[in-house]
Amino acid sequence: MSGVAISLNESSFLAYEHFQSRVNREGHLFGTLEGNVIVFSGELDKVPYETRSMLHPFHINYFTFSTLLDKLNGRKDLTIVETGTSANAVDSTSLWDSWIRKFGGHLTTIDIDPSRKLIGQSRWCSQTEAVVSDSAEYLRNWKIHHPNQTIDVVYLDSWDVDWHNPTACQKHGLAEFEAIIPCLSKHAWILIDDTPKDPSWLPDRGAIYHYVSTNVHTFGDPIPGKGALVLKMIEGDLRFRVVLHQYQLLIEYSAFGFSA
Ligand SMILES: C[S@@+](CC[C@H](N)C(=O)[O-])C[C@H]1O[C@@H](n2cnc3c(N)ncnc32)[C@H](O)[C@@H]1O
Repeated sequence: MSGVAISLNESSFLAYEHFQSRVNREGHLFGTLEGNVIVFSGELDKVPYETRSMLHPFHINYFTFSTLLDKLNGRKDLTIVETGTSANAVDSTSLWDSWIRKFGGHLTTIDIDPSRKLIGQSRWCSQTEAVVSDSAEYLRNWKIHHPNQTIDVVYLDSWDVDWHNPTACQKHGLAEFEAIIPCLSKHAWILIDDTPKDPSWLPDRGAIYHYVSTNVHTFGDPIPGKGALVLKMIEGDLRFRVVLHQYQLLIEYSAFGFSA
């Protein structure tokens, strides 16, 4: 993989820095920054196949996050909403918080578990507001809590997917999505975690992978995920377009609609 390079701008550099630090903590390092490009000098061939899908190049969510930040292109004073406050995995709240520190704006992160706020809030700036609530319920009341504040960026990562029984999670993802639509700015972005495009995007090759692949490939089941019902809902709706779909789903919204 030596010599492969990806250009970074000021915005997507934040994603690079964030995921780099995650990867360092997890003990892998496959890319280094030279100027504004990531150069892959890591020995990918030594990584077991089972864990390769986690890389991309640092983490399975790296490209979707970095694509979104790249598109935001340093826009100032965004209103960002996240469901599912930082836990051990991606630590997404800290990434959004670093965006707010750099470019201004406001972040609301919502989690039903009060410990998330307690553990995290001392690390975040005063423009990051941590709310303890059911996310769909809070978002349905967004305009009461934030009159005149429309949402530019939404990251949906709350109710964990039970790959054997995903219905409750999927319904919750749809409820969050339906709740935010009336609150969006005229042009907005929605990123949804845990919504693999196909079973090959699942981050493991164990029992879950075999269960989901068999259901999808042999029985023709839809691929499960937090955004599975959202994908169905936006089909044919010209206000939404899928920009990138890997393990996460990145959607662009325009109140005026995109041409077919
Ligand atoms: C995958 S974790 C979030 C991870 C975080 N975004 C990160 O990158 O570190 C999912 C979170 O959703 C929260 N959650 C589950 N059900 C919820 C609900 N109905 N409303 C709000 N949060 C919920 C859980 O408490 C948990 O903290």
